[in-house]
Amino acid sequence: MSRTFIICKPDSVERGLVGEILSRFERKGLSIVAAELRTLDADTLDRHYEEHVGKGFYGDLKAFMSRSPALVAVLEGPDDTFAIVRTMMGPTNPAEAPPGTIRGDFGTIMTENLVHGSDSNESAEREIGIFFPGL
Ligand code: RTP
Ligand code: MG
Repeated sequence: MSRTFIICKPDSVERGLVGEILSRFERKGLSIVAAELRTLDADTLDRHYEEHVGKGFYGDLKAFMSRSPALVAVLEGPDDTFAIVRTMMGPTNPAEAPPGTIRGDFGTIMTENLVHGSDSNESAEREIGIFFPGL
């Protein structure tokens, strides 16, 4: 078994797509072990996106991620659940994401791509520690 961390980003909450997104993960066979609606602050985002701090797009990313509440959650499934989630999300740029993926079905632009998922087991452990330290 393994766990991964996801965020239904502010655009998906604003558009009423949280139920659709969580439902896809549940129907796939993954379990929700924690979930909470939160407005993400600057310090938390700097920790979460530490590999992107200082990059050209980071200011816009931070503004987007904190503009309204996001749904942060932990999902559980078999080994490498992070990879299942990443496949279901689709590529970072919705314009390149195939139909059937979350970004491919609901997104149009890179800056509003609906969902975050940890990109490795190590990232998942680190990110769960930031958002759900008691878990
Ligand atoms: P995420 O971390 O949000 O799940 O997305 P990801 O792994 O697919 O993509 P990542 O490379 O980690 O980038 C994080 C978010 O930053 C925005 N981005 N913009 N303009 C650009 O070149 C650029 N690169 C990344 C995207 O919104 C991406 O989700
Ligand atoms: Mg990423």
